[in-house]
Amino acid sequence: MAKIQTKYVCQSCGYSSPRWVGKCPNCSEWNTFVEEAPAPIRAVRKTGVPSTLEPVSLDTVEQEDVPRIRTTIQELDRVLGGGIVPGSLLLLGGDPGIGKSTLMMQAALALKDTVVLYVTGEESVRQIKLRAERLERTSTKHVLLLAETNLDLILDVIERGSPDVLVIDSIQTMFRPGLESAPGSVSQVRESTALLLRLAKTKGIPIFIIGHVTKEGMIAGPKVIEHMVDCVLQFEGEVHYSYRILRALKNRFGSTNEIGIFEMHDTGLREVQNASEVFLSERHAGFSGSTVVASMEGTRPILLEVQALVSTSNYGMPQRNSTGVDFRRLALLLAVLEKRVGLNLGQQDVFVNVAGGIRIEEPAVDLGIASSIVSSLRDVSVDASSVAVGEIGLGGEIRTVGHIDKRVQEAAKLGFKRFVLPKSNVRNLKQNGDIELIPVERIEQAIEALLGESK
Ligand code: TYD
Ligand code: MG
Repeated sequence: MAKIQTKYVCQSCGYSSPRWVGKCPNCSEWNTFVEEAPAPIRAVRKTGVPSTLEPVSLDTVEQEDVPRIRTTIQELDRVLGGGIVPGSLLLLGGDPGIGKSTLMMQAALALKDTVVLYVTGEESVRQIKLRAERLERTSTKHVLLLAETNLDLILDVIERGSPDVLVIDSIQTMFRPGLESAPGSVSQVRESTALLLRLAKTKGIPIFIIGHVTKEGMIAGPKVIEHMVDCVLQFEGEVHYSYRILRALKNRFGSTNEIGIFEMHDTGLREVQNASEVFLSERHAGFSGSTVVASMEGTRPILLEVQALVSTSNYGMPQRNSTGVDFRRLALLLAVLEKRVGLNLGQQDVFVNVAGGIRIEEPAVDLGIASSIVSSLRDVSVDASSVAVGEIGLGGEIRTVGHIDKRVQEAAKLGFKRFVLPKSNVRNLKQNGDIELIPVERIEQAIEALLGESK
C-alpha cells in the first residue's frame, strides 16, 4: 500500500513543509505548523471537444447597473460603498466579542424584503433568538436560521431554496467532510471559502463570512482567503469603550477610506452619525494637555480631542506611550519639538491619547499632538475655542493638509471660534462665515497661536 504523504502547513500563512518546523520560514511565526493530509489530486485531462470560447472586446461589454441591496444601516452601507453588491463575497473580521454576530444579525433584520439565511456554527438557534430579541426589531420572519457546520449539508439546503443573502458565522467552524484536517485549519478555511465563492458567483447571492482574529491580530488564515473575497471588513474597538469602528480594508466595489461608527448598547449597535459631538462630549475645557483636531475619516470630518501628559521621569529611561496615534510619529514629533522649539523632553515621560478609543492615521493631526505636549509641559491650557490641523515637517514647518473646507466647516458647525491651519491651505479655502482663520507657517508660530504668549 502506498504510504499516505502528509504535509505540515503553517496555520498563519499557509506555507507548507514536508516535515515539522518550529518557526515558519515564510512568516516567521512560531509553533504554527499542523499536520494535514493533502487534498486528493485528480488527473486533469484536456478534453477533445473544441472550445467555443471567444474573448470579447472591452468596447462591446454591456454595462449593467446592478442595483445594490441597501441594508438601511447607513454606517454599514457607506463602508460597503453604497450597499451590498449581488454575488459578492464579504469577509467580516474582528476580535471575539467585539460584536460581529450582532452587526450581522442587525443587518439581517434590517433587510426586510429579502430572505436572509443565517448559518451559525458557534451558537444554537435558541441563543441566536435570544440575541435577536434584545435587538428589538419588529419583523423577524424573513430571517432563517440554520445551526450547522458541515458545508456540504448547508449547500444542499441552499440548493433546495435559495436565500437572497447568506451569512456564515464563522468560517473557522465550517468544514468539508471530504478533507481530513480539522475545522479552522488553513486547508479547511481555504476550501470552504472557495466553495462559497463559487456559490456567490454562480447564484448571485451575496455572502457574508465572519472570521475571527487570532491573538496576533490577524484573522486565522486571512492571507489565504483575503484574495478570494471581494471585500474585507474589519470591526474594531477598545474593550473598555462602547464605540465600534467598521473599516473596509479591501473593497472591489467602493473606497477603502470610509469608516462606520457604532456604539454598543444593551439593545444592540446604534449608529453614530454626529461623531464629533459624541467624541467631544466628555471634554473638559481648561485643562492643560488637550487640543481639538479636525481629522478626516474617509469623506467625513470628525473633531477629536488629542490629549498629552508630560511628567518628570523618575527613572533613567523616560517612557513614551501612545494610544490612537502612531508611536513612531510621536517619536518624530518629540524630536522636532526638541530641535525646533527648544523643549527639553529628555527627562520627561510623554503619554499621548486620542479620547474615545479612536485611532488616527493621518499626519494632519501632528499639530494637535505637538500643541498638547507643549501645553502639558508648560501646564498652560490650549485655547478652548480653537481647532488645529497641520502636518509638521522635520524642519518645523507646517505643511498643507487635504479637505480643508470640510474640516473648517465641521469646526464652525460645532461652534468653535478659531481655526489654526497651514498658511499654504488658506489660498484654496472658500471663506467660511463664522470662524476666524489663523494661518501658520512654523511650529513656534502655531504654538503661540494656540497657547498664547505665556511661557
Ligand atoms: P457578539 O456579536 O456575540 O460578538 P462576536 O460575534 O464578535 O464574538 O457580541 C458580543 C458582545 O456584545 C457581548 O459581550 C455582549 C455585547 N452585546 C451588547 O452589549 N448588547 C447587545 O444588544 C448585544 C446583542 C450584545
Ligand atoms: Mg459571534
